[in-house]
Amino acid sequence: MEKLVINGPSRLQGDVTISGAKNAAVAIIPATLLIDGVCTLENVPNISDVKISCSILEKLGAKVTWISEHSIKIDSRHIKSTSAPLDMTSKFRASYYLIGSLLSRCHKAEVGLPGGCKLGARPIDQHIKGFEALGASVNTTQGKIVASASHLIGTSIYMDTVSVGATINVMLASVLADGTTTIDNAAKEPHVVDVANFLNAMGADIHGAGTDMIKINGVSKLHGNATYSIVPDQIEAGTFMLAAVASKGDVVIHNCIPEHLDCLTAKILEMGGEVEESGDSIHVWCNSRPNKTNIKTSPYPGFPTDLQPQAGVVLAIADGTSIINESIWESRFQYTAELNKMGANITAQGKSAVFEGVDFLSGAPVYASDLRAGAALIIAGIIANGETDLYNLDHIDRGYECIEEKFRKLGANITRVNEE
Ligand code: EPU
Repeated sequence: MEKLVINGPSRLQGDVTISGAKNAAVAIIPATLLIDGVCTLENVPNISDVKISCSILEKLGAKVTWISEHSIKIDSRHIKSTSAPLDMTSKFRASYYLIGSLLSRCHKAEVGLPGGCKLGARPIDQHIKGFEALGASVNTTQGKIVASASHLIGTSIYMDTVSVGATINVMLASVLADGTTTIDNAAKEPHVVDVANFLNAMGADIHGAGTDMIKINGVSKLHGNATYSIVPDQIEAGTFMLAAVASKGDVVIHNCIPEHLDCLTAKILEMGGEVEESGDSIHVWCNSRPNKTNIKTSPYPGFPTDLQPQAGVVLAIADGTSIINESIWESRFQYTAELNKMGANITAQGKSAVFEGVDFLSGAPVYASDLRAGAALIIAGIIANGETDLYNLDHIDRGYECIEEKFRKLGANITRVNEE
């Protein structure tokens, strides 16, 4: 079993470069199924969710070639199957984008139920509502979602809840539909915009991505023969910003879009950290014990739920009592039990948690319950006194590229060990 051995405390200092966004890449890769041609993706993060997305595409008949460490060429001209195997789709959440893409391109999709982080109930009713509104019939049977349509017709769809996945999936399903589709109450996350930008670069006609209302004028085909660079990962950048504050460090984060992190910057200033933006870099430093602050997660441009656990580490050692209210996922406080093993004083109940700041954390064996919990526990290990052994690295490898190398370069004492 692999584990990360972290010996703290370390003060993080130096430069780090952010990879392409996981949650954009895992949508754009299946979106290439819409293209009757070849396209090249750049700034692709080298993470396990991307590798499995590529393997599924290959199973469906696409040709995927890594042309450099972060660039892939995808040829989707000869799709031979519309059925994505359950053992592969269950490995990650974003496999649900295969439904929108295959439905759009082939009018048929059979996709095993998606897996992904266990964050509580993760319904896909809004995805299904959107597909059905476009004219598809959708059934869930024997662990698979089976969707088909003789043809898809543009329509108006109101999302009952703001959903990143449903917004992107309906966008994928409607790109080649007859007529115009509108998505009202759409998600506005940077990766939603990135998927729309990618599709437009390939010949789609999508307007309004990044606002509450997205309008998709159906086109007859997407042309390919283009290169698209995936947006930098907002959450990875935010993870390093919070690691800089937690460790009272001084870190310059390169290849990021500071505007995507405005709400985090505001919170870091409340915590007593300093932030300086310059082009595609953010310089974050903190000279004293962080201040208490309250956080409520909400859809973009609100505070991202995917940065909540990492912010929780800062509040665990802040001066005073802080409260986090989680409004997106039911079970995103599993990491607090692990932080308590390290000496934190956190009481989590339902969707809120009270953080009584302690003076320091102490190393302990801890387990990542999900991807962002894993990132939070790495930060906790870096600032804690003594050795932290972190297990369940599969979760972390799904979404962070070379995470221990990046932290090591900033001065952390962190090693991956294969335990007998
Ligand atoms: N929801 C519904 N019905 C639906 C879809 C969603 O009720 O049909 C609810 C969910 O239960 C949740 C809320 O709507 O309460 C938001 O869910 P959303 O659909 O936006 O989440 P998602 O698309 O499944 C993506 C990211 C998550 C991130 C959330 C919120 C991907 C692959 N995953 O999930 O990322 O937490 O948006 O921003 O894009 C992560 O990267 O660690 C991660 C969990």
